[in-house]
Amino acid sequence: MRVIVTESFDQSCEIAARIIGDVVRNKPDSRLGLATGGTAAAIYPFLIRDYEEGKLDFSKVSSINLDEYVGLNPDHPQSYRYFMDHNFFDFVNIDRKNTYVVSGVGDLEKNVAEFQQKVLEKPVDIQLLGIGENGHIGFNEPGDTLKLSVHIEILDESTIEANSRFFNDKNEVPKKAITMGVGDILRAKRIVLVATGKKKAKAIRGLILGDELDCSNPSTVLKVHPNVTVIIDRELADMAGYKA
Ligand code: F6R
Repeated sequence: MRVIVTESFDQSCEIAARIIGDVVRNKPDSRLGLATGGTAAAIYPFLIRDYEEGKLDFSKVSSINLDEYVGLNPDHPQSYRYFMDHNFFDFVNIDRKNTYVVSGVGDLEKNVAEFQQKVLEKPVDIQLLGIGENGHIGFNEPGDTLKLSVHIEILDESTIEANSRFFNDKNEVPKKAITMGVGDILRAKRIVLVATGKKKAKAIRGLILGDELDCSNPSTVLKVHPNVTVIIDRELADMAGYKA
């Protein structure tokens, strides 16, 4: 695992975007594994900037997202399909029909099966990840065990609390999500994870310093992947006790 310590969150995001951009430049028909949330929202503007400056072309790129809330229509402003359209896809020349965010409404069993089939079609060239305060990746929450495949996850109270900042009221935050399993995430050829903020220090410490797979910190599964880059700012590195 490679750990990059930056001077600021902004710089972390710029570096993550550069890594993703390089993948697309080297392989124009790349398949990108994408994420949502506050961290990802700060990374997409750098990819959009490079597209606008003619340095990136997404016309042959395809994408698949990690997860989606159960119960939110794709046009709900807090759905992850809506997030992707309004934070990224609307601003670049990616062909919308080559993007996939699982639906969180309708026949969920069918959606899970369709999502799993899409995941297995071919590995993503690079997977972008954020990390939850409790160490979740995708929506794989801590527990006695971790699921390898696509499944419906009951969100942790801490995740609902953290994500309530995007909703008018905590009660509006969905209680469940459809997510790739950790086995699906580990299928990526390359993984880049970005984190910031003192609330993530414990999870990051377990990820970059510990020597064990720990189901109470799902991100630790990334230790077995051969090509993971973790990008954190100095403030978080210090809080996590990481000396570069
Ligand atoms: C989002 C996702 C989540 C987030 C994580 C961090 O698609 O899978 O794992 O990456 O909850 O969210 P932020 O960046 O909002 O702190």
